[in-house]
Amino acid sequence: MATRSALINVMVKAANKAARGLKRDFGELENLQVSRKGPADFVSAADLKAEKTLKEELSHARPGYGFLMEESGGQAPSDGNTRRWLVDPLDGTTNFLHGLPQFAISIALEERGEVIAGVVYDPIKDELFHAEKGGGAFLNDRRLRVSARNRLGESLIGTGAPFLGRGDSERFLGEIDSVMQNTAGIRRWGSASLDLAYVAAGRFDAFWEWGLSAWDIAGGMILVREAGGYVSEVNGKQINLDSPSILASNNNIHSDLMKLLRKPLSNQRAQ
Ligand code: IPD
Ligand code: CA
Ligand code: CA
Repeated sequence: MATRSALINVMVKAANKAARGLKRDFGELENLQVSRKGPADFVSAADLKAEKTLKEELSHARPGYGFLMEESGGQAPSDGNTRRWLVDPLDGTTNFLHGLPQFAISIALEERGEVIAGVVYDPIKDELFHAEKGGGAFLNDRRLRVSARNRLGESLIGTGAPFLGRGDSERFLGEIDSVMQNTAGIRRWGSASLDLAYVAAGRFDAFWEWGLSAWDIAGGMILVREAGGYVSEVNGKQINLDSPSILASNNNIHSDLMKLLRKPLSNQRAQ
């Protein structure tokens, strides 16, 4: 059994504590599907509660580290620290709200722009993905490795679609048009951190999405890298936490997928 570092233990402990609340609230939701406003308010309260728990736990264990949290924003590191937690307390809010068991807590640690550790925890399936720079990626205690597929035709690709009028739906239609014609299938599961964890676990061969934030991708990025995969922007440029897009893959299909994503809508559809 792999021994977890003190740092990973801190992250896991925080994730477990917040997960207990989320699981309870997810169970409660079933009784709350009565009004339109009710469940949405309830979910945002669950989200805020989870974030508060994570902040308390992490700052207690590592005083002076900074924060970038989805709900409460940023807090610079103090006492000469250069490290910052990047936290999404509930990644997959829409799934949670609709009673779909596909969501996660994502915690990453960044130092001078580089992600050095990540934990993505799916409380419903009790799947704990974790990685530390140079130490490999794990699902619970099993070492992870990206898939070995090298043919697009056999590859399963995860993505995220624009919603509520945000993002560039025209570009997305062009992308799925070419990806669906050349791969074994596309999945849109609604939790970017888990999508990335699935690339690390070899369940997806690749994943791409536009418009994500640092807290959505930081934890998953290190999982993919430590599992032997490759992460860039969709156009192949080097990625950073503020990049407009992400393309993560098993490395083997990276450049072929990049070419597909560049193709405009097929003539047929464009007419
Ligand atoms: C969302 C999920 C989803 C992605 C969205 C994100 P949230 O995060 O990761 O898969 O498509 O763009 O905003 O809002 O559930 O934390
Ligand atoms: Ca998110
Ligand atoms: Ca969120």
